[in-house]
Amino acid sequence: MTTSGRAIDCKAFVARLRDEVATSVAALKTRHAVTPGLAVVLVGDDAASSVYVRNKGELAEAVGMHSVTHRLPADTSQEDLAALVRQLNADRSIHGILVQLPLPRGLNADAIIAEIDPNKDVDGLHVVNAGRLSAGLPGLVSCTPAGCMKLLRDEVGDLSGKHAVMVGRSNLMGKPMAQLLLAADCTVTIAHSRTRDLPAVCREADILVVAVGRPEMVKRDWIKPGAVVIDVGINRVPSRDPVKAAQGKTRLVGDVDFADALEAGATVTPVPGGVGLLTVIFLMQNTVKAACMIHGLDESSL
Ligand code: GUN
Repeated sequence: MTTSGRAIDCKAFVARLRDEVATSVAALKTRHAVTPGLAVVLVGDDAASSVYVRNKGELAEAVGMHSVTHRLPADTSQEDLAALVRQLNADRSIHGILVQLPLPRGLNADAIIAEIDPNKDVDGLHVVNAGRLSAGLPGLVSCTPAGCMKLLRDEVGDLSGKHAVMVGRSNLMGKPMAQLLLAADCTVTIAHSRTRDLPAVCREADILVVAVGRPEMVKRDWIKPGAVVIDVGINRVPSRDPVKAAQGKTRLVGDVDFADALEAGATVTPVPGGVGLLTVIFLMQNTVKAACMIHGLDESSL
């Protein structure tokens, strides 16, 4: 079987961004006496969320930021969580606040997000930031879509006139990504679980972005030859080896069948080692951006 496509080297891309962020942080500290501060809040003990939160804290420290992580028990009340967010809003050493999602059952995520100061909302989830994005105004944009966009510009260059298909419509990924693609003058289709003949819709895409959480859903005949495919899914499935699978061993796959995408001649992000790496670095970038906005500094001058 021939493989005419290409995997995008996200590791090299992320290493470059990491250097850029570290340089910006150093410039903020030395030239403006501002240390960007990131607060991450984790409620409960979900294993995957715990790993993500630890990675965020470690990277924040590695690039020179002030980093705090609040780990709260799963039975934390809505009012106590809201009070913590208000305390972080008022804390002058904190410029970015991220409440890890999903929250445990019984907590209302929308109400908590509404409590976050929009200028510190490094997830871009507050309605003020969602509105700013829709209206084409400057604001904080959700980390994964912002990262995917930067990657696409790096890979494709001018996106104008391309047909982009976004599969998935979440507030964290699908909706902001569609807005960013539109702002880049793409023709944008948003597809989702109720879309009729999803393979045919995907086949139209010059740029295909998939974020639905369905392991290896996108197959070879869903992909236009030469398309750029961004796989945002991270799914844990049983190991290929039946003996290992019986022992409970697992592996990570995306929403796109990676081997199929290569066979289709796509330029595609791998899983693992793809978009997941971008999200965390963009959280750092958003924290720098928030610190600049809060202190009235021009980020591009750093
Ligand atoms: N859970 C998975 N991804 C994210 C993210 O980007 N932000 C938040 N807050 N929670 C998440």
